[in-house]
Amino acid sequence: MSASIATPPLRRPRLIAIASGKGGVGKTWLSVTLSRALVQAGRRVMLFDGDLGLANIDIQLGIMPEHDLTAVIAGRRSIADTAVAYPAGGFTVLAGRSGSGALSTMDPQILDRVLAALAAETSVSDIVLDLGAGLDRSVRRMAAVSDTLLVVATEEPTSLTDAYAVLKLANADRPGGDVRLVVNQASSKAAAERTYATLAQASAKFLGRKPPLAGIIRKDDHVRDAIRRQILLQVRHPNTPAAQDVERLAALLTS
Ligand SMILES: Nc1ncnc2c1ncn2[C@@H]1O[C@H](COP(=O)(O)OP(=O)(O)OP(=O)(O)O)[C@@H](O)[C@H]1O
Ligand SMILES: [Mg+2]
Repeated sequence: MSASIATPPLRRPRLIAIASGKGGVGKTWLSVTLSRALVQAGRRVMLFDGDLGLANIDIQLGIMPEHDLTAVIAGRRSIADTAVAYPAGGFTVLAGRSGSGALSTMDPQILDRVLAALAAETSVSDIVLDLGAGLDRSVRRMAAVSDTLLVVATEEPTSLTDAYAVLKLANADRPGGDVRLVVNQASSKAAAERTYATLAQASAKFLGRKPPLAGIIRKDDHVRDAIRRQILLQVRHPNTPAAQDVERLAALLTS
């Protein structure tokens, strides 16, 4: 029997990146909430703060990790040694450092080294990457290397144009890649479906591809309360509308 049959190769993780172009649509909140939902669906998850200039996952979770991405970039620590456990969520967190000019202007080669190390991380099954607003080089690169790119839009017109800009870049950088839309802060199912239809039609017409809908997440006041208290929505307010919607999204992603 050959060694490759006796010892199957370790599986690389699935990189799930969350982008929007527009700021403040709920990327970071969705990243932490989805990480928890994926754990509940049986996955081993690492949450990576890919908002290199304005990292704030640690703030949303109320944690103060001793080490962060700067140690990985400096080559002092490995990704697995830097990520800290977040017991309330059952996942690990690789934090960034907010306001760190060094991170936001990171050399592309160093970013690629970090992304290659992430892709080779075998301690988890899924890595959720929370991306920053805008479409700078590092956001674009992280979106391009992801296995699944979730593009988040809200019903606001500016969010639609920015989400379309993300779709356009993703289409150029990784034609045929797994790119799906999420409508967040939905005021109603019908309004969210209109938002999806507008984006999907524009994409079909001008980019030749209609991205599938990954999920609709309802606007839910419990979200703001959970963020203010720095607690996961599923812990603070389980089974509320937004928590249920993210669970459905996680189920679809793992099916
Ligand atoms: N489903 C929802 N229902 C109600 N409010 C929501 C929902 N999703 C997000 N929000 C609100 O949106 C705010 C912004 O969320 P978040 O910080 O996650 O956005 P972001 O896209 O990561 O922003 P940035 O681009 O600045 O990183 C939250 O503080 C929360 O109040
Ligand atoms: Mg954010």
